[in-house]
Amino acid sequence: MKDKITLLYNGNEHEFPLIKGSENELAIDIKTLRQNTGLITLDPGYKNTGSCISDITFLDGENGVLRYRGYDIADLANNSSFIEVSYLLIFGELPSKSDVEKFENDIKEELLVHEDIKTILKSFPTGAHPMGILASLTSALISFNPGSVDVRSDEKMYHAIVQLMAKFSILTAWVHRKHEGLPLNYPDISISYVENLSKMMFMKPNKNYSNQSVITSALNKLLILHADHEQNCSTSTVRIVGSSEASLFASISAGISALWGRLHGGANQAVIEMLELIKRDGGDTKKFMSKAKDKNHPFRLMGFGHRVYKNFDPRAKIIKQAADEVLSDLGVNDPILEIAKGLEKEALSDKYFIERKLYPNVDFYSGIIYRALGIPTQMFTVMFALGRLPGWIAQWKEMKLNQEPIGRPRQIYKGRKHRKI
Ligand code: SDX
Repeated sequence: MKDKITLLYNGNEHEFPLIKGSENELAIDIKTLRQNTGLITLDPGYKNTGSCISDITFLDGENGVLRYRGYDIADLANNSSFIEVSYLLIFGELPSKSDVEKFENDIKEELLVHEDIKTILKSFPTGAHPMGILASLTSALISFNPGSVDVRSDEKMYHAIVQLMAKFSILTAWVHRKHEGLPLNYPDISISYVENLSKMMFMKPNKNYSNQSVITSALNKLLILHADHEQNCSTSTVRIVGSSEASLFASISAGISALWGRLHGGANQAVIEMLELIKRDGGDTKKFMSKAKDKNHPFRLMGFGHRVYKNFDPRAKIIKQAADEVLSDLGVNDPILEIAKGLEKEALSDKYFIERKLYPNVDFYSGIIYRALGIPTQMFTVMFALGRLPGWIAQWKEMKLNQEPIGRPRQIYKGRKHRKI
């Protein structure tokens, strides 16, 4: 196979190297395009543009493959803990028993936030969206942990990472408690990361609390399934914000805001709102399928379609199966699960969806499990953010260690030519 391509332009031949990935993906390296030809490329939404070379996550959209550091997502979801997968994504290898114990203990050492975070939390109006609070409090963490900004040494990078892994889980629980009007629970370092998350989120002041394995197991699996997804919108945001030398915490705060959008992580909330709308409307899925296909109608089938997956989203398959298991284990009978399955069945045999290769994505069934766990709809994307945190950290760290240049795309100007006042 040739290792370069030739561009014929203005009577000249310009050669550009071809770069081949571990799984044989190919890219044209256009680093010298503008200086050699005066040309730039134009690719709205970066549908055909690679932003970086990465060792972290591999997606094969045509075959529905997702691997973190070479491990298949199903293997990790069924056999690992979220902390082990976080370690794998951030440091590159599955941890030994002693590695994971040290990592989890180092996180426990940081499992507190400054009391003034509670004051900031309390200042948000009732009804404030949890994602907006989470983004703000994540940025506020910088003020209380100024040492997290300097990550020039391995030790300081590691310390900032364990600080964020620890404190983000408290922020996740506390924005939930704020949303529910419940008193805040402090962390418990005698239990695991996910058990502590569950306890901080769900322990009520008037009842004894004991962790339910069905809940912690479901949370563990969902967090793993959301942990990374190569150069998606929010991860690209985290990388480009970090490329300006903004701090890790500031970059993650920006990523949270990008994830909030309903076309991205906010879709898990939009899916449940859509399913509830269909249920309230009488459950006529065909009516809503027609709306979804009507270009003149703003309605879209939320939780369907994906920029990369053109066959099926492997995470959606795992979550769909988990939804049946969790609801059965919890004795929950949620009619919107049947509406979701009905929509999926119709879409998979509908010409419009087949032609456009639109399949359920990670967000289509996840909300049904969160709901069964007692998590409110507006908190679904916060759960996505906690899951994605180790992926964001891993990608940010890779960008820093690779000393990538500041992200600054070019443009084609189509505005007014020079004119006098
Ligand atoms: C996530 O990138 C990632 O990896 C993201 C993510 C991650 O883990 O980080 O996987 C998480 O964000 C999952 C996606 C969640 N979003 C949704 O479920 C929102 C609904 N989906 C769509 O908005 C859409 O499918 C996107 C945003 C997900 C993908 O959009 P693309 O790749 O830009 O595709 P497109 O909008 O160009 O759609 C191609 C065609 C269009 O029709 P035509 O103009 O060709 O006739 O498919 C149609 C679209 O109108 N289409 C849909 C549709 N999604 C696409 N039609 C109806 N319902 C939909 N959901």
